[in-house]
Order: sequence, then structure tokens, then C-alpha cells
Amino acid sequence: MKRVAILVSGGGSNMVALAKSMVGDHPARPVLVASNDPNAGGLARARDMGIATAAVDHRPFKGDRAAFEAALLEPILASEPDILCLAGFMRVLTPAFVKRFEGRMLNIHPSLLPKYPGLHTHRRAIEAGDSEAGCTVHEVTAILDDGPMLGQIRVPILSGDTADALAARVLVQEHILYPTCLRAFADRLSIGAAIR
Ligand code: GRF
Repeated sequence: MKRVAILVSGGGSNMVALAKSMVGDHPARPVLVASNDPNAGGLARARDMGIATAAVDHRPFKGDRAAFEAALLEPILASEPDILCLAGFMRVLTPAFVKRFEGRMLNIHPSLLPKYPGLHTHRRAIEAGDSEAGCTVHEVTAILDDGPMLGQIRVPILSGDTADALAARVLVQEHILYPTCLRAFADRLSIGAAIR
């Protein structure tokens, strides 16, 4: 059984979708939900689902990313994950952190990568006059929102769409795409050396 740790920063709706999918004959189970924000709604939702949680507030580290990540690594490594899923996790991770999990770390990004890496993806797509938007699940590498893509879902941009309306439409599809990609990834992943 593959062990999945999920990192969140906010409401954790993608975490909930992932956790709910890991049942029955699914080859993975959630073992930890961790956040950089002790008040993240996703932590309460994880607790309600009986999943272990951890929080390391990034603010006291005042931009010392390495020190923050060293603290965050502690509960993550203690959960002995085979796979790390970023799900609405809003901190940029250092190459050193990524290297430790490379090949075993996934992220969902709310755009049709390689279009619109970074933030405010829906506003940018609307302002560009695009006819469609969407979401992408990809393996995390040291380059932000880059890395091998595991799947995408395209969503139409409707006339008069606000960024919020489009975000809500895309989010519904994220909750379908991410569990689908995680299952395929977990099925393919042979249990190699545990993450250290
Ligand atoms: C989602 O749009 C996701 O694509 C982005 O963060 C947003 C919130 O995700 N990464 P969640 O509800 O916290 O899972």
C-alpha cells in the first residue's frame, strides 16, 4: 500500500477529493495532511476524515525557506510517504526539498500548462481572450509549475466569465483530474527506496 502525504495551504478541497478516492482497491492511502498555515481549513477537514495532520507556520521563518522546509520535513518524513501531493500548497519549494521527492511528488495547477504558470491563472486566461482554461496535474521539479504532465482537463471560458466563476468551474474538474492522475501514478510506482 503506497503512503501519500498531502500538503495544503487553504481549504483543501483537492485534498478531500484525493483522500476520498483512496479507498477499496486503490493502491494508496493518505497518511498525513500538512500545512504551512496552522489555520488552514484543510487541516480541520483532514482531522474530520481521521487523517493525521501537521502544521508548520512559515511566517516565523521570515523567508528562510531552507529553515522552514527543515521544520516541515520532520512530520513529513515521520509519516514515511511514498508519494507527496501538493494540493493548493502556496509556498515555493527549494530545489533541495524537491530533489528529495523528485519522481514522487505531484501538483495540481489551475491552468493548461505550459500556459500561465504562477498565480492568477484564470484572470490571465480571460484577459488574453482565451476560449478555454483548465487544470494540469504534473510531477514537481525544481522549475515552478514545470515537470512531466500526468493529465489535463480543458474547461470552456464562457462570455462574461469572472475569474471567480471560471475558478469554480475549473475546481470541479480538478477534483476529478487529481484523483485520476494519483491512482494511475500510484499504480505505476514501484516501491523503491523509501524517501529519506
Ligand atoms: C485550486 O485552484 C488549486 O488548483 C490551486 O489551489 C486552489 C485551491 O485548492 N493549487 P484547494 O481547494 O485548497 O484544494
